Amino acid sequence: MKPLIVANWKMNKTTKECLEFLSEIKLKSRKVEVVICPPFTLLQTLSKKLKTKKIAIGAQNMYYKKEGAFTGEISPAMLAEFNVKYVILGHSERRNVFGENNELINKKVLSAIENNIVPILCVGEKKEEREAKDTKKVIEYQLQSCLKSVEKEKMAKVVIAYEPVWAIGTGENATPEQAEEVHDFIRHVLLGLYDEKAGEQIRILYGGSVNEENAKGFLDKKTVNGLLVGGKSLDAKSFLAIINSQNA
Ligand code: PGA
Repeated sequence: MKPLIVANWKMNKTTKECLEFLSEIKLKSRKVEVVICPPFTLLQTLSKKLKTKKIAIGAQNMYYKKEGAFTGEISPAMLAEFNVKYVILGHSERRNVFGENNELINKKVLSAIENNIVPILCVGEKKEEREAKDTKKVIEYQLQSCLKSVEKEKMAKVVIAYEPVWAIGTGENATPEQAEEVHDFIRHVLLGLYDEKAGEQIRILYGGSVNEENAKGFLDKKTVNGLLVGGKSLDAKSFLAIINSQNA
């Protein structure tokens, strides 16, 4: 399974900053698949500039309807116009800042699959949930409800990202062993929801304060199939170092 390294730029970068970043990005390794998820305003720039680079484009969110009176939203067809292959869904910032719930995220997951966009479904526990030893319960519920009605033939196209909420943007990453334990559990839940073939094909990424120093520790774990990188994906040098840590 080729590891997938995903940059989540969140609400950052103007066109000028994006172009500067791209001029510094030179991919050496073909052993990893790289995706950049910029804000919507940069999709056009990326779709023009990334033609010659081996980097795929992702979006940070989308609405599940085809079109209509949904002020401020964006549809799968609009994303497809800019070669968007992936979409991050259920990010904890969408859940906690914008009030998205599992039911809505499930609709988005189904819509992304129907429109041939690979959902990167984020799951993860809050600090108090980990302290109360509820991590597995929370994650199992998120998986079950966000993947409701997703057929097993389609599951190979879904990517799961384990993002402990307490590790996002805090500098306090999970240890590779903590990630491994939860990844094993996610795989176990997926195998229960689907059959062995479907369950084993799904990539499970780790996200939460990934940096140049800790990336390799995660990627060395067999159960970690890639990384979702926020803050450190904004700087081309750091992001390249994370990508190249796969070979280090
Ligand atoms: P971070 O963000 O790397 O800045 O912690 C990760 C994410 O939110 O996907």
